[in-house]
Amino acid sequence: MYTELVMDHAMNPRNIGTIDGAQSIIKVGDPKCGDSLLLFLKFGNGVINDAKFMIKGCPAAIATSSMTTEMVKGMTLEKALELTDQQVADALGGLPEEKIHCSSLAVGAVHAGIKNFMASGDGNNQEP
Ligand code: FES
Ligand code: FES
Repeated sequence: MYTELVMDHAMNPRNIGTIDGAQSIIKVGDPKCGDSLLLFLKFGNGVINDAKFMIKGCPAAIATSSMTTEMVKGMTLEKALELTDQQVADALGGLPEEKIHCSSLAVGAVHAGIKNFMASGDGNNQEP
């Protein structure tokens, strides 16, 4: 039911871990399945410099978190705010319909992390 790429990211997730001096640390969970994600973000010059995560979740959640962190590294904050679950699923070659929402853990965490960072005021110093 999962593509080879999904299985690859689920078995060998990229960017697992924590970031020392992360400017944004976001915890998101899904009360329905009890899964949760801890996302660490570092910013600079209006882009996401680094993204790492720790997770308790299903293979789809692990794979989409892995792909999401790969995709947002080097991405401008504006573009990352527009990232959708579907774009992450597409980058993985597709996900079963009932698993698309699992990618909202990572995408939602990225959006929340950026908003927190911008609200903290630091974002204003990062304009190019
Ligand atoms: Fe909970 Fe996928 S089933 S994250
Ligand atoms: Fe909870 Fe997929 S079932 S995120």
